[in-house]
Amino acid sequence: MITIDEVPYIGSVTSNHPRVYVATGFAKWGMTTAAVSATLIADLIAGRENRYAQLFTPSRFKLNPGLKNLVVQNAEVAKELIGGKIEAVHLKVEDLRSDQGAIVKYHGKRAGAYKDSNGVVHLVDTTCRHLGCEVNWNEAERTWDCPCHGARYSYQGTVIEGPATEDLIRLNPHYGAEK
Ligand code: FES
Repeated sequence: MITIDEVPYIGSVTSNHPRVYVATGFAKWGMTTAAVSATLIADLIAGRENRYAQLFTPSRFKLNPGLKNLVVQNAEVAKELIGGKIEAVHLKVEDLRSDQGAIVKYHGKRAGAYKDSNGVVHLVDTTCRHLGCEVNWNEAERTWDCPCHGARYSYQGTVIEGPATEDLIRLNPHYGAEK
């Protein structure tokens, strides 16, 4: 669950229902954001000041005249993700440092590449096997993560977390599929 601005909704569900609270849109950061939500909602119930109340309020878009632009921009992003292969990629496999992952241009096509500490490069097709969005490299976890519905793959393309059920297509050094 990801909100339109990627910031969770935490607080009164609407100004008409100030005593009904919601906490959602955690974008898979549930362990951390649940604790933030508990603190924030407890403060709201008790009538205490909380400096993050306005940041997370689910009503924030009513106050924001830029919402229309935000929706248009996000629709464009979604279109690019699903349309795939649109983003200009300049990095090449040879540019990768040890233990670095990135989107690279390989034989004229977009690919996901990770160079392990032994110098072996693992190449995958970055098209998510769920609904076709483009996965991004997660530097901290060394995984390929899908921004659309949260599927995650190992650096070798193996599914770690759904909704995808199939591995990313692995690419051999000659840019052919291994399977
Ligand atoms: S398209 Fe990747 S998780 Fe849905």
